[in-house]
Amino acid sequence: MPDLEHVKFAIADKPVEELILKRWSPRAFADKPVSSADLQTIFTAGSWAASSYNEQPWRFIVGVKPSETHTKLLRALIPMNQSWAESAPVLYASFAKKTFSHNQAPNGSAVHDVGAASATISLEATALGLHTHGMAGFDKELLRASFGVPSDFDPVACWALGYLGDPANLPENFKLPEQQPRDRKPLSAFVFNDWDRAADL
Ligand SMILES: Cc1cc2nc3c(=O)[nH]c(=O)nc-3n(C[C@H](O)[C@H](O)[C@H](O)COP(=O)(O)O)c2cc1C
Repeated sequence: MPDLEHVKFAIADKPVEELILKRWSPRAFADKPVSSADLQTIFTAGSWAASSYNEQPWRFIVGVKPSETHTKLLRALIPMNQSWAESAPVLYASFAKKTFSHNQAPNGSAVHDVGAASATISLEATALGLHTHGMAGFDKELLRASFGVPSDFDPVACWALGYLGDPANLPENFKLPEQQPRDRKPLSAFVFNDWDRAADL
């Protein structure tokens, strides 16, 4: 099996924290369960993300294989994602509560804050030797119906979680991308001093 952790390690041109450089999104997962202790640690980490008014507008539905929840989550994915995510021992979906609990006003930061919790979860998983892979490719209405999600919550993303697997087990179309290095836009493409002026940091 190729040393994917080495190939995928981010080549950043600044001294970024190693945990951040190590995180990447595989599609091949090993047939190895994630311990209950690790799951509790990972989602506890997520709870320590910052959120507007400390609302913590996130909710996660977690399905550990084999379980009805895992099956329902897998079924909600688009076929392209199902084809690789079925190998993940854990699937979870994130949801955002659309209103603040203290005054029922719309929470315009809810999806942002669910993203922050999800990123924190991914970093904690990385620290534990695990990997996550986010998915926007899923059927929102099917997910809603499958779990009876109330109208005050919106599905945000689905995620696969587990230990790294062998890319040889992936469907053919995913084998090559699984083994290619990752890349990112340069700072000049997204950090600015004015709308159109790259930042002079
Ligand atoms: C919210 C979100 C949605 C994504 N949707 C999909 C998806 O539906 N299918 C997929 O294969 N990858 C999906 N990805 C994975 C991205 O393609 C991946 O994170 C990106 O290419 C950067 O790679 P890295 O995470 O390895 O750095 C998604 C990631 C996120 C965070």
